[in-house]
Amino acid sequence: MTFEERMEEDRQAVEDWLRHCFDGRASRADLYDAMRYSLVAGGKRLRPILLLESCRMCGGDVLRALPFACGVEMLHTYSLIHDDLPCMDDDDLRRGRPTNHKVFGEATAVLAGDALLTAAFETVLEPVEGVSPAQALSAASCLAKAAGAAGMAGGQALDIAGEGYALSLAEVEELQALKTGALICAAAEMGCILAGGGAEERAAVRQYAQCLGLAFQIRDDMLDVEGEETVLGKPIGSDAENEKTTFVTLKGLDDCRERVAELTRGAKEALSGFEDPGFLCWLADALEARKN
Ligand code: IPE
Ligand code: IPE
Ligand code: MG
Ligand code: MG
Ligand code: MG
Repeated sequence: MTFEERMEEDRQAVEDWLRHCFDGRASRADLYDAMRYSLVAGGKRLRPILLLESCRMCGGDVLRALPFACGVEMLHTYSLIHDDLPCMDDDDLRRGRPTNHKVFGEATAVLAGDALLTAAFETVLEPVEGVSPAQALSAASCLAKAAGAAGMAGGQALDIAGEGYALSLAEVEELQALKTGALICAAAEMGCILAGGGAEERAAVRQYAQCLGLAFQIRDDMLDVEGEETVLGKPIGSDAENEKTTFVTLKGLDDCRERVAELTRGAKEALSGFEDPGFLCWLADALEARKN
């Protein structure tokens, strides 16, 4: 199986699981529709794939890790719904469709985000055969830290507070590490935790994901300038419109490209101690030049 095929297999497993995760629930006005709308709208599924493949690299059972991978994707989807709200980035297009609040209204979009965040923890705390309670708790705790004020939400707060101000490179790196890096790191670490990886493996996986996460956000900032809306599935020029300081405004596109390449090398080097890091190295390379 090629790495492309393996990624497609992982992606399909995630899609199948997510498509049915709220089946049979009693209707709550249009809340479940709003949750499903954003959750099954596509997206690269990077974080769940990362979790599954980090688990595999550390010797774990990918099937058992699937609910955890889907929990992370629920949490990520909540962050996107809220990120697009008029009080945040005020964007109208996400994953190639009108944003959640455009379709369901702001109140339902806020609630769909809240409910997806909660569903993420419900999902990772559901017992899974072959996953010990200690492993599940450790994975859930890792996710909680990455999502809250010390992680994604904190990064989003800095991002919004920085609008209209000239931030330094160090400030931009900090807010990016939090708003994007934290959840990417958590996904990779959760995979390692579920595989029963030790402290050394976990540190190496974290090092990989920190480099990957920063490279991913720099590339995101680049695509906001040089991407194509139809390929990207979200608006171009949103950062400039909101007067954000980004890697691109600070360093320019060419320096960004170099930094992404350097971080990609760093990510791959971090995995040198593993027996079979092939897929995650390939993934880092594939993300370096991504167009969406
Ligand atoms: C978008 O994340 C938000 C960022 C952290 C840059 P993705 O680029 O992973 O979005 P989807 O999940 O593919 O839609
Ligand atoms: C958002 O960063 C990161 C999140 C926590 C959702 P961006 O605002 O740059 O993400 P996009 O470009 O809208 O996807
Ligand atoms: Mg934003
Ligand atoms: Mg945004
Ligand atoms: Mg962006």
